[in-house]
Amino acid sequence: MAAQIIDGKQVAAGIRAELKDEVAKLKERGVTPGLGVILVGDDPASVSYVTGKERACGEVGIYSDHNHLPAESSQADLKRVIDRLNADPKVHGILVQLPLPKHLKESEAIFAIDPSKDVDGIHPVSVGKMVTGERAFLSCTPHGVIQLLVRSGVKIEGSHVVIVGRSNLVGRPLANMLTQKKATGNATVTMCHTRTKDLARYTRQADILVAAVGQPKTITVDMVRDGAVVIDVGVTRVEDSTKKAGFRLVGDVDFDAVKEKASLITPVPGGVGPMTITMLLYNTVESAKQAAGLV
Ligand code: GUN
Repeated sequence: MAAQIIDGKQVAAGIRAELKDEVAKLKERGVTPGLGVILVGDDPASVSYVTGKERACGEVGIYSDHNHLPAESSQADLKRVIDRLNADPKVHGILVQLPLPKHLKESEAIFAIDPSKDVDGIHPVSVGKMVTGERAFLSCTPHGVIQLLVRSGVKIEGSHVVIVGRSNLVGRPLANMLTQKKATGNATVTMCHTRTKDLARYTRQADILVAAVGQPKTITVDMVRDGAVVIDVGVTRVEDSTKKAGFRLVGDVDFDAVKEKASLITPVPGGVGPMTITMLLYNTVESAKQAAGLV
């Protein structure tokens, strides 16, 4: 039977409506959540992500402080902008869009963010707190994946989740979140990566299969168990002259074939992507509430 498609746009719209109400109430109390966004260079995918994030901020009433630096900016130039945003009380969250141009050290930039404004959940303090079960800003894509599962009625507790991909932005934090001792965790997680031998042997055992590799068609239909839940985090631009933009976005999963075997599946685009942005907005609102002493 064909899978039910998880509509990430619809789930995200529901959360954004809740956030819009919350922001309106905060504004009545004199608190306007603010997000500082830093983009270095002109990588087209990054420009598009940042534009989407800032548009979404506007839609829910979050103030955004846009900082577009030239590609040739130095580490010190970037640090100056981060320091200014760290010191600005109107800014409750800071997002440095990754990847940075090759000559810049991402870890140095991330370490420079005040952890209390790390709404991206990628500073080592946030990651350490998340891993040890302390309250922390959760990294947006893995948090979005969990919210998609929960809001689609998928039981995480006790399930076997197989994650393909071990990045710091997705695979690694997701594995940690899913093994936390709480209702949105308590899963058994297998983490696979580029050096995993016989990948299909593991993916076929998944109740929930998460692909976060960035390689189209990494997950083919023979690698999926009947009735599995399949979450596709991959986003790759593939040339397509029939599209106005000259490209289309494809995930890591062979969607057309796998949708005939899975019970639930996310599309690309319109699956995980809208959730990533939404969880960034969520964290920014949380940070503003914390700064105002409201939580
Ligand atoms: N680039 C792609 N995804 C992300 C993300 O979640 N955060 C940041 N900072 N950069 C990204």
